[in-house]
Amino acid sequence: LFAAVEMAPRDPILGLNEQFNADPNPAKVNLGVGVYYDENGKLPLLKCVATAEKQLVEAAKPRGYLPIDGIAVYDKAVQGLVFGAAHEAVTSGRIATVQGLGGTGGLKIGADFLKRLNPAAKVLISDPSWENHRALFTNAGFAVEAYPYYDAAARGIDFVAMLAALQAAPAGTIVVLHACCHNPTGYDLSPVQWLQVIEVLKSRQLVPFLDMAYQGFGQGIAEDGAVIERFLEAGIDFFVSTSFSKSFSLYGERVGALSVVCESKDEAARVLSQLKIVIRTNYSNPPTFGAQVVATVLTTPALRALWEEELAGMRVRIKAMRELLVTKLKAAGVKEDLSFITRQQGMFSYSGLNAAQMQRLRGEFGIYGVDSGRICVAALNEHNIGAVAKAMAAVV
Ligand code: LMR
Repeated sequence: LFAAVEMAPRDPILGLNEQFNADPNPAKVNLGVGVYYDENGKLPLLKCVATAEKQLVEAAKPRGYLPIDGIAVYDKAVQGLVFGAAHEAVTSGRIATVQGLGGTGGLKIGADFLKRLNPAAKVLISDPSWENHRALFTNAGFAVEAYPYYDAAARGIDFVAMLAALQAAPAGTIVVLHACCHNPTGYDLSPVQWLQVIEVLKSRQLVPFLDMAYQGFGQGIAEDGAVIERFLEAGIDFFVSTSFSKSFSLYGERVGALSVVCESKDEAARVLSQLKIVIRTNYSNPPTFGAQVVATVLTTPALRALWEEELAGMRVRIKAMRELLVTKLKAAGVKEDLSFITRQQGMFSYSGLNAAQMQRLRGEFGIYGVDSGRICVAALNEHNIGAVAKAMAAVV
């Protein structure tokens, strides 16, 4: 049966973890996967999470099946965070939200639903995009193409080309957009550029699918969420996948969601019924614990305030690491303009290094980044940054 099965390549991001774990180099540094580590290189357990967990454990309940679409209080809390609890779209009930297995799970539910709805549609992702976007939508059965995004020469976004590609896309094309903290480049659209993109999406009748995996890591929770507000104002139907992996440091709990903004409550009810079929036939219904933790934090004012503070702490530390990286690279002799590193937002820096240079970083120095040149600046700290900068300087 399996004689003809070929060995699949390692995952370009998670596969690096396997390589990293097997590397005996004591000085190794993992800047591959998008995970925030604290100033001591440790994965944080947020205080708000620990407190919510303690409360949940003390009041431990039996574990029945959850509803197919997840915990109602959680789904409502997600809507409040993403769209604003008082927004007409939320209060009128025209958004269908389901709990998902992380942001990836939210994307997959949306992709499977869209494939049933509009099987001939094409999917456009940014060039480049998160490695898994292409694979996920391809596996859902779509032809996936890319719209121009990164401009290597300008160290920024080729906005003219991006807009032209969207203008040329046929109606019904699904356009995957990074709501904030673009993965992998770190370059985000300006508020004015977002408005122009939304105008084209609307006039061309394209289907926006916003991937929101880093809310709070750019400018702030509300600031990063403002783009969603612009989409609501435009009065179009759109998808948002939400991840709490990074913002709650709950990677392994797989807590996320999918929201579909519809025209009416009745439409949302029908969409929800279809999303439930997708979920039921994939994994039946979601797990309980992580979503309970997130719901508890988001709905308890003191814990919510603590979360905002802790998330701000992560954001501020990442920005400090960006500045320190520039200083250390200059000290290590790099002459080129490095201001792009502090212009980028979120966990990643698209370093501009090529695959051969990234492989040298790994092989000679034990510094693991993605072959695309992406490094996770959220994994830098005062102890490892000097070695990272010296190694980068050595390979450029
Ligand atoms: C990343 O891009 O490193 C993260 O989103 C983790 C993942 O699942 O790839």
